Amino acid sequence: MDGMSKMDILLVGAGGREHAIAWKMMQSPLAGKLYWAPGNPGIPQAIPVAASTPRELADFAESHGIGLTMVGPEAMLCEGIVDLFRERGLRIVGPDRKAAQLEGSKAFAKEFMARHGLPTGKAQVFTERESALKYLDQVGAPIVVKADGLAAGKGVVVAADRETARAAVESCFEGAFGKAGSRVLLEECLEGEEASILALCDGKTIIPLASSQDHKRAYDGDRGPNTGGMGAYSPAPVVTPERMETIRQRILLPFLRGVQEDGLYFRGIIYAGIMMTQDGPKLLEFNVRFGDPETQAVLARLDSDLVEALASTADGRLSEVKLEWSPDPAVCVVMASQGYPGAYPKGLPIQGIDQAEAAGCLVFHAGTRRREDGVLVTHGGRVLGVTARAATVRQAVEKAYQGVSLIHWDGVEYRRDIAYRALNREK
Ligand code: AMP
Ligand code: GLY
Repeated sequence: MDGMSKMDILLVGAGGREHAIAWKMMQSPLAGKLYWAPGNPGIPQAIPVAASTPRELADFAESHGIGLTMVGPEAMLCEGIVDLFRERGLRIVGPDRKAAQLEGSKAFAKEFMARHGLPTGKAQVFTERESALKYLDQVGAPIVVKADGLAAGKGVVVAADRETARAAVESCFEGAFGKAGSRVLLEECLEGEEASILALCDGKTIIPLASSQDHKRAYDGDRGPNTGGMGAYSPAPVVTPERMETIRQRILLPFLRGVQEDGLYFRGIIYAGIMMTQDGPKLLEFNVRFGDPETQAVLARLDSDLVEALASTADGRLSEVKLEWSPDPAVCVVMASQGYPGAYPKGLPIQGIDQAEAAGCLVFHAGTRRREDGVLVTHGGRVLGVTARAATVRQAVEKAYQGVSLIHWDGVEYRRDIAYRALNREK
């Protein structure tokens, strides 16, 4: 791109999503040094940074002449890291504190959707237990109970019956999700297949990324508790070109107009969680960041320069960007610790990553740690995202699972059916 020169980069976060972002950024001729706060062992060339608050990170960016800061997780965006960087004239990708409420407060997001006519399930917000329970008695089940605020993906209960719904409402008001539970949304239960549409948005232009789908439940066949995501693939065949056009017209462009009309500062990634219902696509939620593990599968297919795209987003010059994608599908299988999403052990030695890479997989680190003796050990619930790209979904699945079979630690768990919906369609 004209006038853009090599820049040192600060990346914030420690998960598989951030490893994928870092991996893609390092391919760019525009990437100088990569500083990673706090980072993980996935990219040995990245320089670990201890700064952990928005202020410390801004100080670091200032003193190290960082040309581009990219934030993976939502919490710091909701705290206002973008506001702080902007005050200091530092280039950063993301929405400001107020716009980050699109993810940080489900009530704020619902009001935004209603104001700007974005299709979504009907919902009511309650601040009192009694009125929530009374409403529940009126409308019955199935219904979705959502704690209003960041609850690390755990504040949502899709209740098939009234008892489950009542219990979820009670536990929100009893503080199961901390402050996030002091307001509760009761939302119409939508039926259909889900997809994730991520897009770059600089407040003037919006560019969708390749579609994807994640697998939130812990066990095969979409059973068991919700997790941060056990795997993902891109593209999501349920998002046909026709449906994508509908999503653009009814969701992405109205989102952009809404940002403009409300005067929100949004130069980052908008993630629309969408249910493909019989009445067309409807929004389940907004996130204001890259998805994890969707990003691992999506970026594995990006042929364009990610540093250029993100810097242009931050500069408000997204209209100059064009993204190119590989037609080959990509699949990411998450390897997790025994017991995840509940309690799990840490510190177990991991073997076989080199072999999986030699078999053609990208192995993105999430919860890993390099011990002082150099041994790589497990250090979180989701440990690795084994990602493969191939000419067909079936081949990509086979290649990813071939990689998975070469990696081992005691008690490793993973789903065997990642991308099953796409495979069923390919038949
Ligand atoms: P959220 O954090 O709002 O994305 O909710 C997490 C998950 O709960 C979503 O990915 C859906 O699987 C499910 N969910 C959320 N809202 C609804 C809804 N209105 N109807 C059906 N399922 C939902
Ligand atoms: N994979 C879901 C999320 O990133 O929120």
